[in-house]
Amino acid sequence: MTPPLSAEEAAHSEALAAHIAAAVRAGGGWLSFERFMALALYAPGLGYYSAGSIKIGAGGDFVTAPQMSDLFSRCVAAQCAEVLADGGEILEFGAGTGRMAAAVLTELAARGCLPQRYAILEVSADLAQRQRRCIGALPAPLAERVVWLDRLPERPVQGVILANEVLDALPCRRFVLEAGAPRELGVALEGTRLVERAAPADAALTEEWARLSAELPAPLTDGYVSEICLQAGPWVGSAADALQRGMMLLFDYGLPRAHYYHPQRVAGTLRCHYKHRVHDDPYVNLGVQDLTAWVDFTRIAESAVAAGLDVAGFATQAAFLLGTGIERLVAEAGDALEHARRAGEARRLLLPGEMGEAFKAMALTRQCDAPLPGFALQDLRASL
Ligand SMILES: C[S@@+](CC[C@H](N)C(=O)[O-])C[C@H]1O[C@@H](n2cnc3c(N)ncnc32)[C@H](O)[C@@H]1O
Repeated sequence: MTPPLSAEEAAHSEALAAHIAAAVRAGGGWLSFERFMALALYAPGLGYYSAGSIKIGAGGDFVTAPQMSDLFSRCVAAQCAEVLADGGEILEFGAGTGRMAAAVLTELAARGCLPQRYAILEVSADLAQRQRRCIGALPAPLAERVVWLDRLPERPVQGVILANEVLDALPCRRFVLEAGAPRELGVALEGTRLVERAAPADAALTEEWARLSAELPAPLTDGYVSEICLQAGPWVGSAADALQRGMMLLFDYGLPRAHYYHPQRVAGTLRCHYKHRVHDDPYVNLGVQDLTAWVDFTRIAESAVAAGLDVAGFATQAAFLLGTGIERLVAEAGDALEHARRAGEARRLLLPGEMGEAFKAMALTRQCDAPLPGFALQDLRASL
């Protein structure tokens, strides 16, 4: 059970439900889960990321690593500094509240290797506004390097592309296996109520499932439900096209494919976040709860290689942070109180039961031989 919606949230939710219901009718009575998720998150003015709820942080629905602690971003900056040693810029996708951008710039300034510019590409106008407020509080020499883009840059980046928890926010397909083949899950209407319905899978889903299920180590039983993000490949492809030379550094919760489609993961990876409660019903709290699905990192690696990038590193978040010096950052705390605060944050970032293992870091490079401290302690690439 999630906490009850406020009157304002309930009205918002009903408006989005009506919008989705109209799309179901326009679609002939059924809408794929991918389309439903796109509307639930990004319908103009109504979707979770398009509208004005707090979303990220203590007063919102979920906390991300950079929002929880600047230690995360300072470690990210340590890896960026290696790539930016000879100059270059940073492009961040989906910068949330802007806190990671602010902390990365602050750390890079302290290390004497500020990027020429820090570009942010954000699809949520509401979050872009929060980012502007956050960046506006930085000293001018840092703030003036930040620009907001509404499309990929014309001139490809030499430097670093960053994305933390962006891939999990891309709308995904959902399916249920019947007689070994996928049927696609989506929504239909019962009266005015949205209900989940399976429909014949289209060619894209059928072919993609046939390709990847042939490589799985164990067969999956009928009734198995999971997700497949067909938008992830094109996303990586276009981000790769925007990288002329340097590194794309991705963080997200996810797994190599063989673990993602494990026979025991019978209900998939889709999760809903509302006021720091996690549940698995995407059809409630429309427009006021986040929907996410874990990332199949094998798909990300395949797409990167197809786009001409090298998969230079794949490790748990814990290994990445230890490799980039999180222990030193904790030890450097000025006083006992600050030390205790940093130690507590580091535990949440590192422990396997918290964010340390479920979250992974992946480095995708083009013509880049910069040192990779974030991937020096662990190399999980063979699992992809
Ligand atoms: C889960 S939030 C993570 C925010 C932030 N990176 C953090 O770690 O706190 C997902 C972010 O990705 C953005 N987003 C989703 N799809 C995107 C896309 N295709 N391009 C750029 N940003 C996107 C959302 O608006 C939001 O800012």
